Amino acid sequence: MSFRLQPAAPARPNRCQLFGPGSRTALFEKMAASAADVINLDLEDSVAPSDKDTARANIIAAISEVDWGNKTLSVRINGLDTPWWYRDVVDLLEQAGERLDQIMIPKVGCAGDIYAVDALVTAIEAAKGRQKRIDFEVIIESAAGIAHVEEIAAASPRMVAMSLGAADFAASMGMQTTGIGGTQENYYMIREGEKNWSDPWHWAQAAIVAACRTHGVLPVDGPFGDFSDDEGFRAQARRSATLGMVGKWAIHPKQIALANEVFTPSDEAVAEAREILAAMEQAKANGEGATVYKGRLVDIASIKQAEVIVRQSEMIAG
Ligand code: COA
Ligand code: MG
Repeated sequence: MSFRLQPAAPARPNRCQLFGPGSRTALFEKMAASAADVINLDLEDSVAPSDKDTARANIIAAISEVDWGNKTLSVRINGLDTPWWYRDVVDLLEQAGERLDQIMIPKVGCAGDIYAVDALVTAIEAAKGRQKRIDFEVIIESAAGIAHVEEIAAASPRMVAMSLGAADFAASMGMQTTGIGGTQENYYMIREGEKNWSDPWHWAQAAIVAACRTHGVLPVDGPFGDFSDDEGFRAQARRSATLGMVGKWAIHPKQIALANEVFTPSDEAVAEAREILAAMEQAKANGEGATVYKGRLVDIASIKQAEVIVRQSEMIAG
């Protein structure tokens, strides 16, 4: 480890973030009753421009009126390139109750975007005597966002989570696809005459995970558009979990159970991790730094790998 230790990300479950438009109030109670760990009430792209004011008022009322249980409650504001975002922040911070946990800033392109929102939020918190500090989560969904991903992760102590937004990201990058995440028909290699599909989202995900882990922020996979394709969702989510992401968005309630399933370490994975920890305890007692578990090498690094799985499982259970 570097002299500068890696900070821990917030120890709270973030397996599924369920989205719903602020203009569809009939969904709020259903969202609150769902099994998602995080609720994202949306003011941005699922709300038509003519509905922005109504959606904002709906969300402010619902933050106090709906019983959100122990979920993390987040509101996605409009982007800093729109005429709506400042009113989103001012009205939310001045009028919404203390139940609000965080705001999600979409389409961030540089640390200055976070600085601008931070300055506004900090001033309103002080002026209104708000007790609970509002956290920030952001969406990396542009070329600038991925190019500046590390400074964005480091931009404020309010930063808790960062998601990859596949659709806007693809558009900003000029990618030839209209798919929101998942397998892309034209992204393949040929081996012995057969097509082998690769993952065009991989590098952006890995960059986000690295930036997040460096700065103690939760890396999250964003939306999977085809909510009829359970296996496609599972495959995308499993790749994200393997890369170090902690959860995924649901843009339809049927995706919640899939995300919870993938991002909760399985009983088998936890049992194996505990066996590796026990094997290493035994090795340590024998004065060894490495040993053999099921025919393969385990050493001191394996302890840290196993602890990631055990910690995640205990945190979710707790
Ligand atoms: N949260 C909670 N419940 C939801 C929901 C959501 N986001 N979306 C739909 N439901 C409910 C419906 O009300 C319906 O409930 P019912 O069985 O009690 O009638 C049930 O789930 C089935 O819904 P369905 O008819 O399949 O979907 P729909 O046509 O009503 O809505 C979408 C489909 C995609 C428009 C809707 O799910 C949605 O708005 N998703 C979020 C979009 C969003 O926020 N995007 C921004 C982030 S990318
Ligand atoms: Mg977007």
